[in-house]
This record gives sequence, structure tokens and C-alpha cells, in this order.
Amino acid sequence: MNNGNTHHQPQILVTGGLGFIGSHTVVELQNEGYEVFIIDNLSNSNLDVLKGIYNITGIKPKFFQFDLLDKEKTHQFFNQHRINGVIHFAASKAVGESVEKPLKYYENNIGSLVNVLQGMLDNNCNHFIFSSSCTVYGQADTLPITESAPLKPAESPYGNTKKISEEILLDATRSSELKAIALRYFNPIGAHPSAEIGELPLGVPNNLIPYVTQTAAGIRTQLSVFGNDYPTPDGTAIRDYIHVVDLAKAHIAALKRLLNHENKSQLEIFNVGTGMGSSVLEVIQAFEKATHMKLNYQLVGRRAGDITAAYADTSLVHKELGWKTEKSLEDALLDAWNWQLKQK
Ligand code: WQD
Repeated sequence: MNNGNTHHQPQILVTGGLGFIGSHTVVELQNEGYEVFIIDNLSNSNLDVLKGIYNITGIKPKFFQFDLLDKEKTHQFFNQHRINGVIHFAASKAVGESVEKPLKYYENNIGSLVNVLQGMLDNNCNHFIFSSSCTVYGQADTLPITESAPLKPAESPYGNTKKISEEILLDATRSSELKAIALRYFNPIGAHPSAEIGELPLGVPNNLIPYVTQTAAGIRTQLSVFGNDYPTPDGTAIRDYIHVVDLAKAHIAALKRLLNHENKSQLEIFNVGTGMGSSVLEVIQAFEKATHMKLNYQLVGRRAGDITAAYADTSLVHKELGWKTEKSLEDALLDAWNWQLKQK
């Protein structure tokens, strides 16, 4: 925890800073002594998260509640605060919802990004970290997946907004002083070991781990395993599940690279995962081992749009950012379970 004099420490804006990955990144930024500003419209979060952050670090981030689609407010914010770097998480991220409401996703995810970038450029703020996703690879031809793997047609409008956002960053960095790093996340899971912050899925969880912990907690009666006829060792799909605290620390490493002018090009892209793949059944076994809980699940048909396998080649992010994961799958599952137990 930083008690030092931070008035000369860089001021960092975290958009979507009360979200799942955003809140964990705010904690790590504060641990590193940065002054953190959060903009969040609370569309997928709540103010308890601010309290959770404070309970962990003892430092209250400066919080501004407004929608980044409000161009005027966004410009005003950059006008009134000297921001040295921006980590941009604010976006809608429910894959299924994006298929039903594509225009909401294009307007929100692209519109917010453009407003933030414009606000930065108008106020000489040139360091930008972007929350991207391995979904841009679709089903990669070879595994593990490197950053030079070809991008595939997006599986959803959500995934397409990530691809389009990266293209916007390419054009924006080529035509200005902006320097950006896009982090392509694999599957973020878990919660802070303090159980003060974690994932808050609204309604029925789409993602595997919240569904697992809610089933174990008796909120859901049974987990459905989507497909056991994939061409994988146990027939279930493989993903690269990364602890959200490890993922948060990758953002700190990327931010330092930009603030220290160590970037080798205006836009750099890194895959951020553990480098290891785990099948759904392996996750279930790891959960039962870590928590000594018995999980009630059934094998059902595949979910539309799912790919067989994805896991990261982490050599570039390790070489350039000096970052790698420290926590195991079991650590993440246990932290997710402890967080679940604290939910009312
Ligand atoms: C993981 C595996 C499912 C639920 C998505 C987005 C991606 C990123 C992470 C935002 C798959 C299986 C799941 C369930 C199951 N989100 N599963 N039963 O689909 O890899 O990635 O979330 O950036 O962009 O696409 O994650 O957790 O939904 O699924 O069997 O109840 O678990 O089929 O194999 P996914 P997921």
C-alpha cells in the first residue's frame, strides 16, 4: 500500500474501473503508487466495488459517474485533469447480447473509444492501454496462439467491436503522438484473494466460472457442459484461464512501458494468458479439488459460436513486458469460490 507523497506520481484514468478487470487493475495501480481516476457509468457494476477497492488499498480512487458517449463530459474531464495515461476497459461485453443488439454494441464500444481518444488527443495525453480479446483470432489454425496469428471473421458483434477498435488504434497512432498497447485477454477468471472485489455477473452467467461457483453455492441447480464431442483429449473445449490479478498486473507492465517510452512502435499488441489450456472437465476437477466441493453437472450439446480450443503463446509478452502469470488455475478457482461465498 502506498502512503507516500503521490502528487508528482502519474495520474491514470481507468475507464470502466468499477468493472471486473478494471477494479482489479485499479488496486494494482494504487499498489504501485499511481493516482487513479475512474470513469464508470455503473451500467454493469455498482458503488460497492469502490468500497471494496478502498478496503484493500486504503486509498479511495477519484470516481466520476458518467457515460463516455457523452462527448461534452468526456472532453471536460480531460480538460480539468492532467492525465498521464489511460487504461480503457469501458465497453459492453456480453457475446450473446451483442448478437441480439449489435447496434448497441457498435454505438457503445466504438463511440466510447472514439470519445476517449479524442479527449486525450485534445489534451496532449498520449499513453493508451486497450482491453482487447483473443476472440479476434476466432478458431486459430495453430496453437498456442501468437500475435501474428491471422485474425478471423468475428464470431459476434462484440468480437467485431474489438477488431474494429484495434484498427481505429492503428489509424489514430499513425496520425498523432498517441502511443497504444492492446492487450488481447484470454479467459479472465477468479477474484482478489481478499474477496473484497470479484466478478459480478448480472443475471444468469454466460461464462463458465461464475456458473460453476453459483452451482456450487446452490444458486443454480446444475452446470451444463456445452459439448463433449470436440476433438480434444476429453472431448470438452479448451481455454486459457488467467487469474484476474495476474491480468491486472500485465496492465501495469504495459503502462510502465509507455510511460518510460520503451515501446518499439506506436501500437503494440500482446496476448495475455497463462500459456496453458484447460478443458471444461479439467476446470471442474480443479474446482472440486481446490474447494472440496462436489459439482453437479451434465454433458449437453455444444453452444453455438464456441471454438474448440484457444490458449496463448506468451513468449512475446514475457520478452517485451517482462510479465508472466504467477497464479495457478486452482488459485483462481479458490479465489472465485471465496468471493462467491461472500455474496449475499
Ligand atoms: C468457456 C468454456 C464454453 C458456460 C467468452 C468471450 C470472450 C471473453 C471471455 C469477453 C467454453 C464452456 C461455459 C457454461 C460451459 N469475454 N461453458 N458451460 O466463450 O471462451 O469466452 O468469455 O471478452 O470474448 O467469448 O468463455 O466462460 O463463456 O466459456 O460448458 O455454462 O466453458 O462452452 O468452452 P468463452 P466462457
